[in-house]
Amino acid sequence: MNGIETILSRKSVREFSDRDISNEDIKTILTAGMSGPAALNMRSFEFIITQKPSILEKISEANGPYSGALKKAKLGILVCGDIDKGYLGKDGYWVIDCAIAAQNLILAANALGIGSVWLGTYPEKAKYSALQKLFSLKSNVIPFATLAFGYPLDSTREIRDLYEVEKVHIDKW
Ligand SMILES: Cc1cc2nc3c(=O)[nH]c(=O)nc-3n(C[C@H](O)[C@H](O)[C@H](O)COP(=O)(O)O)c2cc1C
Repeated sequence: MNGIETILSRKSVREFSDRDISNEDIKTILTAGMSGPAALNMRSFEFIITQKPSILEKISEANGPYSGALKKAKLGILVCGDIDKGYLGKDGYWVIDCAIAAQNLILAANALGIGSVWLGTYPEKAKYSALQKLFSLKSNVIPFATLAFGYPLDSTREIRDLYEVEKVHIDKW
């Protein structure tokens, strides 16, 4: 699959098969997560990863009612931001560093045939506070995105065309 196909065939996957994800593929996915641009190259992202059903269940509960996919996943990655490391601190660029990392994780997984869904965490305080508590995180480490991964139950792939000409403003709005 080439790069454009990887992007255009990505979709959220919430039903996963029993097939485990290899350690090699997990390393590849994490490497992609750490390979995006980062403001002033501060690399404020951190990753909590688990393949343990009991921990996936706890993360799902902490992240609230729309996080059920995680209970069926084979891998969970919680992308966290260290606001002390990010450029311009608490209200600075850490959110963007983390969003790029999360999307790179998802795209790398898709390139490997592994499905995923982004389960929203930040900026909902109830969710990120519950996850901070679950993992006893220091207050400078903010859970940003909860990602569930696994091989899709439905492995059909389509290249989607989501282009909307109305969203493109040439030379002026
Ligand atoms: C920031 C963010 C938060 C999201 N939160 C959830 C969520 O809590 N639960 C869920 O099932 N999907 C969640 N999604 C996935 C979206 O519902 C999904 O991306 C959107 O419906 C478009 O579908 P697609 O990803 O298949 O293109 C989230 C996506 C983003 C980017």
